[in-house]
Amino acid sequence: MLYTLKSATDAVLTEIDEERRVRKTRELFLLFSLGSQFDHLIKQALEKLGVFCLVADPNKVTAEDVEKVDPIGIILSGGPASVHTEPPSFDSRIFNLNIPVLGICLGFQLWAKHVGATVIPATKREFGVHTAKLFYPEHRLFANCGSNTQVLESHGDKVKVDRKLTVLATTENTPVAAARYQHLFGVQFHPEVTETECGLQVFENFCFSICNAQDRFPADDIAKQKITALRDEIGNKKVLLALSGGSDSSVVAHLLKEALKGSKCRILAVYIKGIDRPDDERHVHEYFGNQDWLKVKVVDEAAAFLRVLKGKTSMKEKRLAMRDVYKEALEREAGWYGASYIVQGTLYTDISESGGGYDSGARKATIKVHHNTNLNFSLPEITPLADCVKDGGRNIGRQINVPEILLTRHPFPGPGLVVRIEGEVTASKLAIARRADEIYIEELRRWKLYDTVWQAGAVVTQSVTTCTKGDDAAEGIIVALWAVWSVNGFTAQAADLPYDFRQYVSRRLTNEIRKIGGTVYRDSGKPPSTIEWG
Ligand code: XMP
Repeated sequence: MLYTLKSATDAVLTEIDEERRVRKTRELFLLFSLGSQFDHLIKQALEKLGVFCLVADPNKVTAEDVEKVDPIGIILSGGPASVHTEPPSFDSRIFNLNIPVLGICLGFQLWAKHVGATVIPATKREFGVHTAKLFYPEHRLFANCGSNTQVLESHGDKVKVDRKLTVLATTENTPVAAARYQHLFGVQFHPEVTETECGLQVFENFCFSICNAQDRFPADDIAKQKITALRDEIGNKKVLLALSGGSDSSVVAHLLKEALKGSKCRILAVYIKGIDRPDDERHVHEYFGNQDWLKVKVVDEAAAFLRVLKGKTSMKEKRLAMRDVYKEALEREAGWYGASYIVQGTLYTDISESGGGYDSGARKATIKVHHNTNLNFSLPEITPLADCVKDGGRNIGRQINVPEILLTRHPFPGPGLVVRIEGEVTASKLAIARRADEIYIEELRRWKLYDTVWQAGAVVTQSVTTCTKGDDAAEGIIVALWAVWSVNGFTAQAADLPYDFRQYVSRRLTNEIRKIGGTVYRDSGKPPSTIEWG
């Protein structure tokens, strides 16, 4: 599914030719994934434009392979490595093939070093959104982007000003934010993320103006393809679906419903209880209870979660521990039901942040181990949304008329409230996290702010504040509130919730939950923070 080109053998060339035939085009782009968290977003941007793009392994694909595959353009993603300390392995002869290259972040630094420019550690590292000044707004790479535009940067190294390079853009701390050398183009920022205003336009310009692409393949009806694939794979066999009631598992439930129409098979949807939000179970019953195509089973694992979490204090340990309970519960239920498959709503984002994704050989950072990846179930697993990010999954849902209320529900992490509690997770901290979430979300809805943010959460921190409640002095827990705007969860901005609202929520939390002594609001976005606290 997450196909990665390794070499241009005859068999591979035949497959690529077949895809060219289906798409009625000879035009192909290669995306060398250097381990970026965002590589799939680049591929999705190109697919949105209707061009054919293959992800290539920088460790394996040689200049000879590239010549055989014959792309009209090459894109190099960013990545966690540095051209100095651990340069990604890449056949730099590819830069001499005279095929236009767009290097993004590390990909830009790689070609810059190759042509003799200097890459230096940035004294002021840049994470987050900055204003880029475009020197030549009419330049082919930046046509229709204006002269000042918002871009997202996330880098430690940068390219030094060099007479060889034509500098196309600059930001506050990055004099060479975009540059050109002959057929090599580079941007230090990330055009693939939604925070970069003109990102899609940059890809459009690169593909159609610089590489002279002519053909656009119309976006497929992806939902139909997925339903057919599920029908072919499952047939009349029984399946167990891990159903949290969030948009991903809800979309998968409806894909299964369509795929299994006319089959004798009923879906067993397992909802695991114990570290969930206060209203998730009710929500699942409301939208999935009493259906003839699916049976909901609630499995209460509260005691098991608390048992494995006892004494664990780091987020990593807690994430790993909760996964065991999750896996065991699903396997046990699948066994009783006689299911042949376990189906999950895992997204590409989950896989990528867990260190997986395209098998490109490049080092990829593990941001956090998501609860639903690499579980190695004893029976086959199906993850129909593994090549989607959040907005893509929601769009598939819209294609098959999944109720909007299911699609726009705030995401909730599989590890549940565990990642919203600092230190050891105890029953009493869980109770505080649950009630704090209830109050926060209730007020977001009442103030009509719920639908204006992408996700929000309340975190039970380990910080305490001296407080005075009713003339008495005490120590109380600090609860950290956060809310973000995002499109696909890969990047996010802190939401600018009104001060009055925050004051009101703060008063309710400190008044109604005895152990809470104060609240704070998180102002940082992703990057550098992630959306969840842990
Ligand atoms: P982060 O916190 O990684 O979150 O920026 C991106 C989105 O994923 C959710 N999230 C998870 N979802 N299993 C999941 O299914 C997990 O382990 C997990 N961790 C985070 C998070 O709530 C946000 O929507």
